[in-house]
Amino acid sequence: MKKLLGILLIAVFATGCAEIDELFEGKKGDSNSGASTNQLKAEIYAADWSNITNVNLLETGRTYNIRIDRSLLDGAIVSWDLLFRGANCDIQVFEDDGVKDQAQIVCTTWGQLGLEITALFDNGSEYISTINLGFIDTNPGGNGDQGPVRIYRVLNGTGGGTWGTNGWLQSSGDPARGVVYVGQTLKIINEDSVEHQPFAANGLNCTNAPFPLLTGQSYDCEITQELITAEDYIVDNLNSADGRLSFKAIDADRIYNDQFNCTSCHGHKTGSSAAQIETAIRTGIPAMKFLEAELDLDDGLTASEKADAIRWYLDNSI
Ligand code: HEC
Repeated sequence: MKKLLGILLIAVFATGCAEIDELFEGKKGDSNSGASTNQLKAEIYAADWSNITNVNLLETGRTYNIRIDRSLLDGAIVSWDLLFRGANCDIQVFEDDGVKDQAQIVCTTWGQLGLEITALFDNGSEYISTINLGFIDTNPGGNGDQGPVRIYRVLNGTGGGTWGTNGWLQSSGDPARGVVYVGQTLKIINEDSVEHQPFAANGLNCTNAPFPLLTGQSYDCEITQELITAEDYIVDNLNSADGRLSFKAIDADRIYNDQFNCTSCHGHKTGSSAAQIETAIRTGIPAMKFLEAELDLDDGLTASEKADAIRWYLDNSI
């Protein structure tokens, strides 16, 4: 009986592998340049899981996701190897249901990165695919730093519970909503033992993650427009009632340069806290007193939110 089961199992696997053999016919051991390798059907995605059209124009400081088509990997043992590391990169490989089908990469210096993915199937077939990635530095001199990243960690144990209890972001409807700035990247890291799926629900240009994040995976949402009055939020598609981050997206550049026109009198005065800026306006510097009206203007932002946006702008611009 045991033997028969064995034969049946082999038969089932063999059928599966025949399909795979067909798809990969003649490709055994082939290598391929670029990220879209037909042999292993690897797809590369941006940090927000949107599709990448030009794989030769990857940027330093940004996170990229590589994912292999699972349907072609039935029964295979997949391994990832580093062929060459011409750039300084952090590479994490993720395992889903025992199959290492995805990786997340961020490089902080420009250069080339070579990866090799090997899939070993039950019948002994082995398929190898190489991926050549080129990273450019769009911010030379900045060590590949694309500007500040706001991190929200979905803590282990969150499960179906409420987000926003462990940091600066609050739940929907909370008047003390969190703040992100235009130009910032909001990075959501899943540190939970269960999956979470960020879903940009309102007014954001970010993609809805097409797959749930595994433990340790992250999702980046670049904040590109100001949203103060409308509620701006990201929900967990697997827990939309409680798993949500609600925030204001503030354009600090507009506040500093247009609303307060700080540079009309002096240059960048860096190193002040939000409270010090508020005090300089209200009581410290008589020449700046007239700006108090802007601080207290009812424009959807509190005085301290405006002062902190100015502080953030001074800290993050030149
Ligand atoms: C109407 C002119 C004017 C504008 C507009 C102005 N400042 Fe000033 N600011 C001054 C003067 C004058 C001083 C005192 C002399 C100095 O430190 O340069 C000063 C000083 C400061 C100081 C030092 C404060 C201290 O306690 O020593 C900071 C910080 C500052 N300004 C920040 C800002 C910011 C931020 C803005 C925009 C919100 C701004 N200023 C807009 C005129 C101005």
